[in-house]
Amino acid sequence: MVPPLSTRLTTQRLVLRPPRTGDIGELRRLLRHNQAHLNPWNPAPRPGEDPTSITEVSNTVLRHRREWKSGRSFSFMLALLTDPGRLIGKIALNGIMRGAMHGAYLGYWMDVDHQNGGLCTEGISAVLDFAFGPARLHRVQAAIMPHNPRSLRVIEKLGFRREGYAERYLQIAGKWEDHILFARTREEHPVPDGSRHDNAVA
Ligand SMILES: CC(C)(COP(=O)(O)OP(=O)(O)OC[C@H]1O[C@@H](n2cnc3c(N)ncnc32)[C@H](O)[C@@H]1OP(=O)(O)O)[C@@H](O)C(=O)NCCC(=O)NCCS
Repeated sequence: MVPPLSTRLTTQRLVLRPPRTGDIGELRRLLRHNQAHLNPWNPAPRPGEDPTSITEVSNTVLRHRREWKSGRSFSFMLALLTDPGRLIGKIALNGIMRGAMHGAYLGYWMDVDHQNGGLCTEGISAVLDFAFGPARLHRVQAAIMPHNPRSLRVIEKLGFRREGYAERYLQIAGKWEDHILFARTREEHPVPDGSRHDNAVA
């Protein structure tokens, strides 16, 4: 069973929840503010496409909600508990595979003005509890470019295990980039009491 779209995770400082249509204006502001910060780490948009246009942001929100409902991905918007209306980042479990895998790819970014305060690490930790708890995943994978020290530090702090080095793995900002591959499995991540779920292969 897929966790409901009403899912809401809280940490000491953050609230994490799926995007909703009421977020479109705020998400657009956040993406526009962070364009220069995020462009080096994202796939380049298609020619003529503006990922911060109302149409694209609306499509993104609707796609995230569709994919959540069908269990294909779980995307969380982040906000501070003290200011829940202002979005500050996103953490997602993408490309969910069931069957013999029960795995997902982790993606994340944080508002440029909210970096280096441990917020992304705090948010991912809660998303991992969700992944290995209600989402019944067994493996969460991350791929990071060798020249992204902040992201490498986040994944190190979270205790991910390095699994390999993939040459020309993803096309980022128009260039096929090498990535270091990391993973964490259910056995390595004790799930807090109360969110235990059977993640046996289905
Ligand atoms: C990567 C990113 C999500 C981290 O968010 P964040 O909220 O700053 O993360 P945290 O504060 O939890 O941790 C960042 C760590 O990197 C460290 N750091 C910052 N700049 C660094 C640098 N140049 N070299 C090494 N470490 C650095 C910080 O000191 C902190 O470590 P610490 O807690 O031990 O002091 C954010 O920088 C970002 O959005 N980057 C652009 C998008 C991106 O790279 N996404 C990931 C793609 S794989």
